This record gives sequence, structure tokens and C-alpha cells, in this order.
Amino acid sequence: MKGDVKILNVDKFEDIDVDRIIQSKNDLLNKINNGIENDCTGCPYLVKRDWDEINQKNFEVKHISVESTSVCSMKCTYCSEMYYGGLKPNYDTNKVLQNLKKYKTKGSDFEFSWGGGEPTLLEDFENIFKNNTNEYKPQKNFVYSNALKYSDQIEKFLKENKVLLITSIDAGTPGMFKQIRGVKGIYKVLKNLKKYFDNSYRPGKLSNIIIKYIVTEQNITTEEIDSFIELIKEYKLEKCSFQISADFKNENLNKSQTINMIEFFIKLKNAGVNLVYFDYHSAPKIRKQVNTLFKINEFTKNKLINNYFESNKISSKKDIVVWGAGDTGRLIKSNNYFIKNKILDIKYYVDRKYKELNNSKSQIKIKPPPALRNDNYSILIASSSYYEEIYSEIVNLGIKQDRILDQIYC
Ligand SMILES: C[S@@+](CC[C@H](N)C(=O)[O-])C[C@H]1O[C@@H](n2cnc3c(N)ncnc32)[C@H](O)[C@@H]1O
Repeated sequence: MKGDVKILNVDKFEDIDVDRIIQSKNDLLNKINNGIENDCTGCPYLVKRDWDEINQKNFEVKHISVESTSVCSMKCTYCSEMYYGGLKPNYDTNKVLQNLKKYKTKGSDFEFSWGGGEPTLLEDFENIFKNNTNEYKPQKNFVYSNALKYSDQIEKFLKENKVLLITSIDAGTPGMFKQIRGVKGIYKVLKNLKKYFDNSYRPGKLSNIIIKYIVTEQNITTEEIDSFIELIKEYKLEKCSFQISADFKNENLNKSQTINMIEFFIKLKNAGVNLVYFDYHSAPKIRKQVNTLFKINEFTKNKLINNYFESNKISSKKDIVVWGAGDTGRLIKSNNYFIKNKILDIKYYVDRKYKELNNSKSQIKIKPPPALRNDNYSILIASSSYYEEIYSEIVNLGIKQDRILDQIYC
């Protein structure tokens, strides 16, 4: 809800050494542990555990989010000065990345996210992005770009399957785009996305381009949604993945927003889109509403939703496997409408960490992901934070996509 956490202030152009980062992280940990208000206060992802103090020896870098500029070519209504304030870094971005390299996790799960500001506007972005991607070899490499400026390096990495590009569009008409994004440019963004797509799509594979729609009060009207879908068809972008998000500053969605978002999901599916999902901002909010909407028969009153539910047999009983046996997967038993109402019956769980999780205390059967090949149960992905990642992992296991339950079941 608060956006990114500030670790330390850099007042003048100076080098940032790793000791300062460690020191500042420890200061933040102390504040969290002592109940002193800080940037993490209220975050639902805080976990209570016996945490060690961080030091040079145990400092391990698993994720670097490179957001060192707040120079941006847009000024979105849902965003803030923090991300479009126009500041260039007053430190050497590349040098910080080089200094952190020796602390890169020994595991295979290192991730980069490139954002900002607009990452393509960072001075020397193409080289910094290219060299650090090649040296760090991240398992996941997310680039959040508004796609107003075309990057040859992004294109090259898309082709080589070394990056996931996430671009928000948030509108279906030029007027709404200008209203939400602060500048004109919907057609330029679509043209650039089409160029990225045409130059990188590998038939039979999931696209590395994710088109995001952040739902606000203004842009979820039928006119905007229908027109957005027409544009996607016109630019032949149906094979991209689609992420329906929600403004993280609004804690709840109301009834009609939820219905419109479910309609949006269905319209994208009906347009032939391969993968569409609610992200970790929107999925929990939708989940909160689904219970009530079923109870008051709201879905049966809506022709589009009712037809989709009937033709996809959404309410008929199914035996399922849940992907994810950690906290999120276990919580699903108490917060998922379909499981609570015995529409979905969990046969077992799969998890990459099945060995760690399968201890004597665990009440559930946890198998390794390839076990999915041995039966034909439907698969429910528990996590909305890693939905796309898990989806592609299942596809890469050679499992048919129609076994993966869509996120109407979130
Ligand atoms: C701050 S932007 C910066 C990177 C780049 N300029 C872009 O447009 O993607 C990074 C991501 O944060 C998302 N974002 C910003 N504010 C948000 C909000 N209030 N709620 C949900 N997502 C938000 C944007 O849609 C974008 O995908």
C-alpha cells in the first residue's frame, strides 16, 4: 500500500558501498522488530520468524530492482512523484550492480526487475541492462517499460528468451489513455509492442510480453474494455499474456468493479487470448467479493458471466491438485470459495520445495511438480504473485494448458 521501501538516502553524487546497504537494512529490521513505524508497517507479507542480523557473511542478494531513475515520459494518475519526479541517479548505477555481484545468491533463483521511472530513459540503459543481464544470468528478468521508446536490447533479449516485458496500457481509447497516462501515445505504444512481438514470438511458447491493465474507476467501463479488445485484435497481440491489476492504493473493489473485471477477463478469453490472470494487487480483492457475489446470485443475473460459467462448468465438482504448498497454498483451504464449498476437492499439492515442506507435521501430501504428469487432475495455481511464472513452468513440463484452472477460481 505504501509503495517501495526506502533503504537509504543518497544526498550527493557518491558511491554506495555494500556495507551501507547492510547497515541500513539492519536499521529497518530493528524498526520492524521494535514496532517503530517504518516503510514496511502494515505490509501483509511481513513474516514472524527468528531473523538473524544481516552481515557481510550472510548477506545474500536474490532480487535486485533497478529503479535508479524517476525520469519518465508519462505521468499516470495512479502513480506518484516517487516514480515520475524526474530525478536521475546521483550514484553510478552500474557500479552498484557490479559491487553487489559477489553477493548474488548461490541458488538459481536470482531475479532482476528493471523499472523506475522509465528504465529505457536511464542513461546508458542499453549497456547496463545488457551487461548485467549477461553477467548475473537471472532466472527471471522483468522489464517494466511503458514502451513509448523502443529498445533494441529489449527486443534482442525477448528473442533470446532472457526477459519478460511488462507494459501497462490501461485504456481502450486515446482519450482515456491521455487521461490516465498523462500523455498521448496509445498507438505508438501498441505499434512498439507489435514490433517487439513480431520480432520475438516463438510459436508454441508463451509470449514474453505481458500487457497490463491497471483498473481504475474510470477505465473499467464497457466502452473502454470493448475498445481495448478491438485494439488488441487490430494489432494482433492476442498471443501476449494479459495481467489485470488494480490500483494498489485502493484497498477494496466494489461490487460493480469486480463484475466488470470478471467480464473483462472473460472478454479477453473469448477474444482468443492464451493467458489472462489477475495479479497480486487485484486477485485478493476479487477473492473478497466472489463469496458475496455468489451468495446473492449476481453471476447468474449477468448473461456474459453466466454463459461463460456454464460453458466452462465453473460450478461443477472437480478433483484438483494445488500448485504451492507454502503459506498461500494452505490458506486456500479457508479463503477459496470453490474449495470451501466443496466444488473443488484437493487430491494433493505440488511444490518445488516438496522436500522441505513434507515434514512430519504436514497434514497434506506434497509431491514434486513432475508428478502432475501421472494423472489428469485440474491444476489450481495458489499464488497470484507468481502466477505467470508457475503457468509457464507447468507448460514447460509438457502439461496441457487446459488442465490449468483459470483465475476465475482465484
Ligand atoms: C512505476 S512503473 C515504472 C516503470 C515504467 N515506466 C512502466 O510504465 O512500467 C512500474 C509498474 O508499476 C505499476 N504501478 C504504478 N503505480 C501503481 C499503482 N498505484 N497500482 C498498481 N500498479 C502500479 C505500473 O503499471 C508499472 O507496471
